[in-house]
Amino acid sequence: MSQEEPALEARLAEGESYEPPQSFVEQANVNDPAIYDEFEENWPGCWERAADLVSWSQEYDTVLEADDAPFYRWFTGGELNASYNCLDRHVEDGRKNQAAIKWEGELGETRTYTYGDLLNEVEAFAASLRDLGVEEDDVVTLYMPMIPELPIAMLACARLGAPHSVVFGGFSADALATRMNAADSEYLVTCDGYYRRGDALDHLSKANEGLADVEHAVDTVVVDRLGAELAHSLADSQHDYGELVAAHEGESVEPVARDAEDMLFLMYTSGTTGQPKGVKHTTGGYLSYAAWTSHAVLDIKPEDTYWCAADIGWITGHSYIVYGPLALGTTTVMYEGTPDYPEKDRLWELIEKNRVDIFYTAPTAIRAFMKWGTEYPESHDLSSLRLLGTVGEPINPRAWQWYYDNIGGGECPIVDTWWQTETGGMMITTLPGIGEMKPGSAGPPLPGLDARIVDAAGNDVDPGNAGYLTVQKPWPGMLRTLYKNDDRFLNEYWREYSDEDADDWVYFPEDGAKVDEDGYITILGRVDDVINVSGHRLGTMEIESAIVGVEGVAEAAVVGGDHEMKGKAVYAYVIPEDGYEDSDNLEARIVEGVEEGIGPIARPEAVVVTPELPKTRSGKIMRRLLEDIASGNELGNTSTLRNPEIVEEIAAQVENE
Ligand code: WTA
Repeated sequence: MSQEEPALEARLAEGESYEPPQSFVEQANVNDPAIYDEFEENWPGCWERAADLVSWSQEYDTVLEADDAPFYRWFTGGELNASYNCLDRHVEDGRKNQAAIKWEGELGETRTYTYGDLLNEVEAFAASLRDLGVEEDDVVTLYMPMIPELPIAMLACARLGAPHSVVFGGFSADALATRMNAADSEYLVTCDGYYRRGDALDHLSKANEGLADVEHAVDTVVVDRLGAELAHSLADSQHDYGELVAAHEGESVEPVARDAEDMLFLMYTSGTTGQPKGVKHTTGGYLSYAAWTSHAVLDIKPEDTYWCAADIGWITGHSYIVYGPLALGTTTVMYEGTPDYPEKDRLWELIEKNRVDIFYTAPTAIRAFMKWGTEYPESHDLSSLRLLGTVGEPINPRAWQWYYDNIGGGECPIVDTWWQTETGGMMITTLPGIGEMKPGSAGPPLPGLDARIVDAAGNDVDPGNAGYLTVQKPWPGMLRTLYKNDDRFLNEYWREYSDEDADDWVYFPEDGAKVDEDGYITILGRVDDVINVSGHRLGTMEIESAIVGVEGVAEAAVVGGDHEMKGKAVYAYVIPEDGYEDSDNLEARIVEGVEEGIGPIARPEAVVVTPELPKTRSGKIMRRLLEDIASGNELGNTSTLRNPEIVEEIAAQVENE
């Protein structure tokens, strides 16, 4: 990005704003601005509106219990089952033949599961898992790409009350093993392989490699995705998904009544230290919140065809491909593949073909579409669209405008939704049927939420100034703790800004932000050691530890640098061990090490081998400076460094990359 552009973009952001079209407002699930006051005046009772969107087998007694804050408990005394809510109740409502999942495979094949079909297969697979020994509260790991068996396995686990832990299919064998060990997970559901840009990729070998590092015995179920294309022989502890489901076809499995606060799933995410954090989400609060935000923000109605183009391996897919849309009984599209295969119009083709009403994607994808040009969307009829959404990273006003004009035809509101793995669902966004949109700004906090921008001491900063984003009130979709690590939960999210003696708890998401006079919040990005690459959340410490594991590396510092398409890109600065020779192929081995340790998504944009890193006099690496070098920013005063001369040298190397 050129030096002038940020200023120009800021002007754009302040200049333009858009009202949702009247036709949208009239039909919107939520269109009365009074909702903000209603939630405020009746807090926390307002959250009954979310809980009312799901069916409870046992009504809850209390909306919120805060006596043990910040270990909040929501809808206590209530019981429910997530799989019942996503399946059975729609079938009971006479909607058995409505499409629940429309799956679009990479090779152009499609599968449609009606609510009836989905319930049958979920029950057959739940019966299979039960047969293998899965019991309530056993953590089942799911390591799969975007195939229908992934949501089926999630719902089968939910039916049995066994929390799932989905590991993104693009993560490495090491990442799988770390997560299975951390969760003591004795069951794995995976697949033989999948297609990427038309090629068959072997996934089972990667899973097996990970299993070799799991410290306990594991029963594995393998989905046959590739058929004859990739023949695998299964070990004794490995079972074929198709055979299991066929053997249990037609069996019914009662949905287990789960306490509202029982764990629905675990999701590992990156944080400040090298060890991923096991974010724990519950059945009652999470499901209510996913359903409520799908209803209020995504405006989902049962008769809609809705498409979130994320991967289920991330939280966005959990909340807004699986649980939210299915709880509301809509048709959710799921696709396997990449947006430019077989052609760069793949997404627009699928929108036209499926008459998609609502489309939700990430800014990084929009920036790629912009670069490819308008001819691709123009060659398709996108008039079925009613609402657009984005998530995962800040959207620059130019990309917002492009999305609005070229995909929405100037007639679809856009919701720019800020949230996190930890929040379970959307937190800061406009409601599409209420109020204006300002490109580049996510909007106000949702009704019932209270977000403030503060300085390092916790005082509110004035509108327009950058500060730290904080959330002052709890909400039903919030994480309850980090798996088996309450201390880390307190330290990571609550210690920074809470007044513990006054029992006043403030959640700190580790994002920077600013707010304008109207209360619209613009997210400025992470302020911790997490970098957001193409909307994927990566920990610099995790990448560093993969790099220092490579032979010949003495020290490594990883930072994010601005990247036109990806938002941020990974820059690795590496000090080799003494005796290093250029011919050692160190850069290539480092890239390989990162791919093996984490996965190709963490692949460095540049590996800079240098004899020294810029350090302060007290010996701390100047990460800020390394970020500025990576971003091509002007470098400030370096005279306080112990070794200022190294800066020029490193900067010159980065420029040559
Ligand atoms: C970033 C993804 C700006 C933010 C749902 C957050 C965003 C991190 C937005 C969480 C947005 C997410 N605007 N930044 N609309 N949405 N982020 O846990 O830095 O994978 O902290 O959850 O993504 O990433 P995570």
